[in-house]
Amino acid sequence: MKLITAIIRPERLNDTLEALYHVDVRGLTISAARGHGGETETVATYRGTTVKMELTDKIRLEIGVSEPFVDQTIDAIVQAARTGDVGDGKIFVTQLQRVVRIRTGERDISAVTPAMPV
Ligand SMILES: Nc1ncnc2c1ncn2[C@@H]1O[C@H](COP(=O)(O)OP(=O)(O)OP(=O)(O)O)[C@@H](O)[C@H]1O
Ligand SMILES: [Mg+2]
Repeated sequence: MKLITAIIRPERLNDTLEALYHVDVRGLTISAARGHGGETETVATYRGTTVKMELTDKIRLEIGVSEPFVDQTIDAIVQAARTGDVGDGKIFVTQLQRVVRIRTGERDISAVTPAMPV
């Protein structure tokens, strides 16, 4: 299992959610974030110059997936969130050790895929 953390532009969120839906990603968490992606501005100050780290509003998506879903999840985010301009964001993929569904006590693979309503 992997935890996919994606930092994207807020204006690309709706298209990204739609793309994720189409590759059967059902469980995810979204939060507002601010970040720095290397773009700096030089500011003149009274004793010289300093560098101001530019912070921009971003959306953080966190998605826990089993191995067969990893590549299609990444591809869906890249296609939907990309504009081609600097600042499109980044995707981090980390090893996911444990998942527990609180309602049922299910563990790991059976817990990471949302239970379909019956
Ligand atoms: N190394 C990093 N670690 C954590 N967060 C990062 C990192 N790089 C970028 N981010 C997050 O991603 C957001 C967007 O970054 P950005 O798209 O500028 O990345 P980049 O690698 O500089 O790509 P680009 O060349 O398109 O600007 C940042 O505002 C920050 O929230
Ligand atoms: Mg950048």
